[in-house]
This record gives sequence, C-alpha cells and structure tokens, in this order.
Amino acid sequence: MIGEKKDFISLEDFTAAEITGLVKLAADFKKHRQQKKTRSLLAGKKLGMIFAKNSTRTRVSFETGIYELGGMGIFLSQNDLQLGRGETVSDTGHVLERYIDAIMIRTHAHSDVLELARAVSIPVINGLTDWCHPCQILADLLTVWEQRKTLKNLKVAYIGDGNNVANSWIYAAQKLGFSLCVASPASCAVSDKITDSCHNKNIRFTEDPEEAARDADILYTDVWVSMGQEAGAEERIKALEPYQINAGLASLAKKDYIFLHCLPAHRGQEVSADIIDGPHSLIFAQAENRLHAQKAVMYRLMK
Ligand code: CP
Ligand code: NVA
Repeated sequence: MIGEKKDFISLEDFTAAEITGLVKLAADFKKHRQQKKTRSLLAGKKLGMIFAKNSTRTRVSFETGIYELGGMGIFLSQNDLQLGRGETVSDTGHVLERYIDAIMIRTHAHSDVLELARAVSIPVINGLTDWCHPCQILADLLTVWEQRKTLKNLKVAYIGDGNNVANSWIYAAQKLGFSLCVASPASCAVSDKITDSCHNKNIRFTEDPEEAARDADILYTDVWVSMGQEAGAEERIKALEPYQINAGLASLAKKDYIFLHCLPAHRGQEVSADIIDGPHSLIFAQAENRLHAQKAVMYRLMK
C-alpha cells in the first residue's frame, strides 16, 4: 500500500509526502543495489506485465527490478493474450490474480487501467496510458533530487507536446509545488480537462517556448508523436517545430540547467543532437532511475 492506495495509477492520487517518500525509497534502493539484503525483499512474488504498446525502459526496468528484489516478472504482450481477441479487462484481471501478486499494465485507454484496478484485489501499476505516465515522472523526480537535493524552489520547463508525460508533470507540480511552465502550440496543448481545473499559481501554460525556458532549472521534452498518434504525425511535427529544445532555447535557461527526456528521443525533432548529447543532458541516468523508482513502487505495493 502507498498510503491508503493499493494501486499506482496516477500521481494525482498521492500526497506530496507519499511521492517524496517513494523518491527517497528509490534513492535508497539505488544506494543499496549491490547489497544482499535487498535481494529477497519480494522473494517469491510474481509481477505480470501487460503491454499493448512497445517499451524498452518500462519493460526492462520492471523485469530486472522485480528480479533484483527476489521475485519474477512475466511479460504479457497484449497481442498474445486473449485480451487482444476481445476477452474483457476484468475477466483477464480476475484470472491473473489467481496466479500472480501484482499487474503492471501499459495500454491506450486510461479507463482500462482504472477498470482493471477496480476488478482485482491485487495491486495494479500504470506503466503508461494515453493519459499519464506516473512511473516516468517518479524516476524524473529522483534524477532532479539527486542533482538539486530538493524538489522545491525549482523551475521545470516542459516544452513540446501536451501529452501523457506532460500530464504527469502537472500532477507532480500540483502536489509538490515546484514551478512548472508548459509550452505547447494550441493544437498540441494539454487537455482542457487539466487546464480548466488547474488553478495552481506555480503552474503556467503558454504557447511561448522562450517564456518556459527562461531561467529554468530543468528543460524537459518528449516525442512529438506519441504511440497511437501516428495518423496525425505530419501536422503535429509541423506545429511543434518552433518548440525544439536547441542551443538557442537552452541559452535562456539557468547556466547549470539539466536536460531531461523520458526517451525514446528523435534528434532533430523535439531536441537537437548537441543538447541531448551535450554536457547538461542526464538522459541515461534518468533512464537508469526508472529501475530504482520501479523497485520503490513494487516494494511499497507488493511487500
Ligand atoms: N520512457 C519510457 O517509458 O520508455 P519505454 O517506452 O521504452 O518504456
Ligand atoms: N509520450 C510518449 C512517451 C513514451 C515513453 C508516448 O506515449 O509514446
């Protein structure tokens, strides 16, 4: 359990203390990765991992994470499951809970994850939906915390598509209070569902990427075409062109800014190669931190 929650579905569901608690536990797992005592914390536990979309980091970090804690992961491609042939989410869940101890799911509709979580008594972890990507932002917060030793008094600039990753950053800023500026063109802006109800003074939405980048501690971006959005790719790329994080935009940020990207990246689109491969970029430390963050979530929910 994390607080009263059996599941990890959205940062919106957690308090600031619960989120920072997970970040600190993840840091602890990182520090003690080689220690024997951490290797049996989830001994014998089984995690089912349903994927309806591709993944490198999420799959490998969960699978190695559960293994390093003494348990095992079972990769379940949606195409190979009867789920892919129309078996319902809840029937799938009821069957899986007879075999395994927790389910991680990456899928399209956020409502499917909520339905699964309601149906089963075991923990459900959101490994990305079209709506949000909480596991990613947990790893991102760990990366920021390692560098700055705080999650307050920071300006995060999210520049680009107002997608699932942007939504989870917004939830994190709502809970933790750091300053977040989200810059996107109107056609790729964050959903009204979020902007209409977001009255937090620390969060700004703008169409001006320079406003977001100015004095930022963190420059963050994500792909312009998320999984499932391939049909409108050409228009999105055109609309997002002025939002590329490049040397010009980065020159407005703090001198010691950090560049982050959840990956996979497209050099020449959302970020120029000199920035993502440059000295301010922490993308691989950030990717490694997925492992430690995943361990914290699994330990809290499955122990
Ligand atoms: N950032 C992230 O979730 O990567 P994958 O799509 O490779 O899992
Ligand atoms: N916004 C991206 C994130 C990938 C990790 C997507 O949904 O494809």
